[in-house]
Amino acid sequence: MNATNAMNATNAMNATNAEILAAAKGRRILVVGDAMLDSYVWGDATRLSPEAPVPVVRVERESAVPGGAANVAVNLASLGARARLFSPIGRDADGARLEAMLSDRGVTLVPGSISDSRPTIVKTRVLCRRQQVCRLDREAPPSAYATPPEELARILAADAAEADAIVLSDYAKGSISTETIQSILALPHRPELVALDPKPRAGVDFSGVSLMTPNRTEALRLAGIEDVPGMPFPADDVCAAIHRRFAPKMLVVTLGPDGMLLGDGGRAAERIPTAAREVFDVSGAGDTVISALVLALSAGFGLREAARFANEAAGVVVGKVGTATVSPDEL
Ligand SMILES: Nc1ncnc2c1ncn2[C@@H]1O[C@H](COP(=O)(O)OP(=O)(O)OP(=O)(O)O)[C@@H](O)[C@H]1O
Ligand SMILES: [Mg+2]
Repeated sequence: MNATNAMNATNAMNATNAEILAAAKGRRILVVGDAMLDSYVWGDATRLSPEAPVPVVRVERESAVPGGAANVAVNLASLGARARLFSPIGRDADGARLEAMLSDRGVTLVPGSISDSRPTIVKTRVLCRRQQVCRLDREAPPSAYATPPEELARILAADAAEADAIVLSDYAKGSISTETIQSILALPHRPELVALDPKPRAGVDFSGVSLMTPNRTEALRLAGIEDVPGMPFPADDVCAAIHRRFAPKMLVVTLGPDGMLLGDGGRAAERIPTAAREVFDVSGAGDTVISALVLALSAGFGLREAARFANEAAGVVVGKVGTATVSPDEL
């Protein structure tokens, strides 16, 4: 399906969310990328430490949810897809916890995901009365999470052949690189739809995918346009530059409170205002967007229809605290 076909797929232009969900149920989606454990420490702080000018946090409880690529897989499963995840996870307590949470939420790990050659990536947010005080990151350098391209092709061959779509969830932790992307695009029996949520950085070529879903900052970076504070979003220039540099068949730029922008063949084709009614926590909204988009596209809906659906799904998750998912009932 090329971008123009996707934009013009008007046969289901007025599909309701229920119709999209029904058509998408059971779609097989393979997620590849950087999974992590999003961990939260909740407490209260009423005094400063005598040891250093920092608050003393009395811990009340701890919780954790799947993050990054794992959150994409969980979002897909929650919307009714059959989601499988290949992601570099460590053979450690955090990895076991992440694996159990994924299995509880209906996500299957592709064999080869777990290895003792690296720690599971964990981001711990310390929150006092819902205010973030600091974040503690545990992770090894990117090389620890990279899979050599030939090995990746071997691990993913059977899964890619069965999948209706592939989602690459890049959090710049090492599992997604030019080689990874090329190796997946070269798989002989892969589905046509390969979507990518990119974290742009020097030396990574994101060319060749069907769909890219950068946020505002990422889109400017991909386009090579400086982000000047207060500047209105240069939609036409961004779409043109991303098209010239990476030529994704479809482009959806998420613009936070300003909803999303659809690119079509290098032009800014349409803006969709946010569907959020109340905003509590925007973290993970991008994961929901790519999940819902891919699900709808894999069920045969056009880009406009898929984007409207994804925008409504994101509108639900930003109304929840913490990395969250959306269920069919909420849509
Ligand atoms: N403050 C907000 N108000 C209303 N809607 C929002 C807000 N932030 C996000 N959204 C919704 O969520 C979608 C994705 O948000 P955003 O552009 O922030 O993605 P993101 O930066 O990739 O998010 P993350 O990386 O935290 O998952 C938007 O297109 C919009 O529909
Ligand atoms: Mg994002």
